[in-house]
Amino acid sequence: MTDSAPRSLRPIRSYVLRQGRMTEAQQRAFDTLWPRYGLTLDDAPLDLPAIFGNTNPVTLEIGFGNGDTLAQLAQQHPERNYLGVEVHSPGVGHLMIKLAQQESTNVRILQTDALALLRHQLPTASLASVLLYFPDPWHKRRHHKRRIVRPEFAELIHRALTPGGLLHMATDWEDYARHMMRVLSAHPGFVNQAGAGEFSPRPASRPLTKFEQRGQRLGHGVWDLLFERHAR
Ligand SMILES: C[S@@+](CC[C@H](N)C(=O)[O-])C[C@H]1O[C@@H](n2cnc3c(N)ncnc32)[C@H](O)[C@@H]1O
Repeated sequence: MTDSAPRSLRPIRSYVLRQGRMTEAQQRAFDTLWPRYGLTLDDAPLDLPAIFGNTNPVTLEIGFGNGDTLAQLAQQHPERNYLGVEVHSPGVGHLMIKLAQQESTNVRILQTDALALLRHQLPTASLASVLLYFPDPWHKRRHHKRRIVRPEFAELIHRALTPGGLLHMATDWEDYARHMMRVLSAHPGFVNQAGAGEFSPRPASRPLTKFEQRGQRLGHGVWDLLFERHAR
């Protein structure tokens, strides 16, 4: 369904596609680096070992923004593979430039709706972990239906994770943190690593972004949630 369809028939999306101006360097990155880092979805499920050329564990970051976190993680963990999914072109361009500068070979990027990726292209039990950092909070009540974390999301992540795999979410919006807690706690296939109903201390594994540092200076809270897929 396209955006020219009547409003009542359009799918509810968790993002607004802003055109956003790309810098010349970002535009060039699409021309020269997309063949190295970009994946284009077709009808077949992704064959991750073939894509990465190895069977290292795969982490998916959903909505990576400008990609600084993903680039940092990829550099710190050459023994893992990273898939990033983001709809916003300047962020994709920014990340490709970083990856080329640091000569990363363990990252691939999809520019598409993460829900479409999870619904149709990711094989069952193919991911060791999923990261969802600071998703759009859609804080007005009438927009809550656009939040990416909802029961279908929990089910899709559960299907994509290997047994024992981890979903790590973080938000600086308390109401969304509580919503995430409710949705994930209601899914019988996950265990909250911090104990039922508890938020986790910020794990050292989550890079501290500029965005979060600014929030810390302003005294904003951040809530981390770590849910493990049951081992069976
Ligand atoms: C508030 S930003 C946070 C970016 C980044 N994770 C960070 O912590 O700085 C949320 C990002 O998620 C992306 N996004 C939202 N819904 C998405 C979806 N369904 N599929 C892919 N990306 C999505 C948006 O384009 C946006 O860049």
